[in-house]
Amino acid sequence: MNSEFQPGETGAQELPNWTPDMSAFWMPFTNNRFFKANPRLLASAEGMYYRTPAGRLVLDAVAGLWCVNAGHGRREIVEAIQEQAAILDFAPTFQLGHPKAFELSTRLAQIMPEGMDRIFLTNSGSESADTALKIALAYQRARGQGGRFRLIGRARGYHGVNFGGVSVGGIGGNRGYQAQVWGVDHLSATYDPKAAFTRGQPEQGADMADELERLIAVHGAESIAAVMIEPVAGSTGVLVPPKGYLQRLRELTAKYGIVLIFDEVITAFGRVGAATAAEVFGVTPDIITMAKGLTNGAAPMGAVAVSRTLHDQVIDAAAPGIELFHGYTYSGHPLCAAAGLATLELYARDQLFERAAELSSYWEDAAHSLRDRTRVKDVRNFGLVAGIELEPRPGAPGARAMEIFHRCFDEGLLIRVTADTIALSPPLIIEKAQIDEIFGRLAKAIDETL
Ligand SMILES: Cc1ncc(COP(=O)(O)O)c(C=O)c1O
Repeated sequence: MNSEFQPGETGAQELPNWTPDMSAFWMPFTNNRFFKANPRLLASAEGMYYRTPAGRLVLDAVAGLWCVNAGHGRREIVEAIQEQAAILDFAPTFQLGHPKAFELSTRLAQIMPEGMDRIFLTNSGSESADTALKIALAYQRARGQGGRFRLIGRARGYHGVNFGGVSVGGIGGNRGYQAQVWGVDHLSATYDPKAAFTRGQPEQGADMADELERLIAVHGAESIAAVMIEPVAGSTGVLVPPKGYLQRLRELTAKYGIVLIFDEVITAFGRVGAATAAEVFGVTPDIITMAKGLTNGAAPMGAVAVSRTLHDQVIDAAAPGIELFHGYTYSGHPLCAAAGLATLELYARDQLFERAAELSSYWEDAAHSLRDRTRVKDVRNFGLVAGIELEPRPGAPGARAMEIFHRCFDEGLLIRVTADTIALSPPLIIEKAQIDEIFGRLAKAIDETL
């Protein structure tokens, strides 16, 4: 799959042949001052590897940013985008349509859990999150429950960066703006230090979902519209739900008429061994948000799968005319829709979700091989995701992991760090030898970083 690239071909001196002016681009979620003094650039990619401008290979242990599930540079996706660009560059989907947006929605609906076959298209995970929250509110109003305005999230939840998502999200820094969506409350994170080094789902902790009843007692169910959580939290360090937790949350939300939203921006499209985490855990929410793997990262696109019950309620209760006052100029953009269709076809043809499921126990063993390294505080894993949490440096949280990130990159391995947790999520085409290489190199980098 990775043609001419050889694993381990790294270490060449960085000799940048491309030195752009970096001052204009205000980089997202980046220490701009540090980066621009110490730039690390990516120039091309194929299969499991990036190349730097100097031609140095970097093994991608994070699928770019949890997106490139089918590996980089897939010809089928590239050609689909090229062909579509020549046929129809842009078409609005407000009061008009074009075939690819409908085809993609139909195709996506086919791999969603039973009954979740109505699809709203967006351009990102953040937009999917805010779209899902609005749909939940619209549904409650449509069924005569307009008093339900509260949105419940979870501490350490990440739902992108738009106002709905940051308000419902549980990350202090992201919420640090003066304005928020009003009436939001949070469940506790499912992180339990007593469960350190658990393989897969912790046995204990389903009762953490009962906290929803405490919030209901405080606010009243009649004021709560929706609960939004990530089935497996990724961005705040890979938090795996305890056994029974998601089931319990489903029972409670159903009992109290609260919409349950799974944010599957990183867990969908094979990451945990099936099309959705909902399928893997056997829990069907009312709404699922997606993005990233939908187009294999090749074009910006997100999607929101909505249960037919919610959809029909909103549509049927609306006065004649537009039923939902929401949408993006680029909802269902032809190039992205073509990329999405080619991607879903590739996932099915190469059976990549099944491949991820098959590789997950090998991945788990490899991740847990790091458990005895000095400074490793916890290893968590699920599907093809792993979180390796390190002891923070006294007085400098995050510094140790960031140094490991830089060290790994310079030695040919792309990882991701969030605070002091290393979060890994490779393309699903990964080979066992590459899994060994990732954890071997990581072990070395951890050992060398005091
Ligand atoms: C669970 C979750 N939701 C939403 C988002 C936001 O997606 P985007 O960056 O495409 O807006 C992310 C991004 O990592 C995510 O992990």
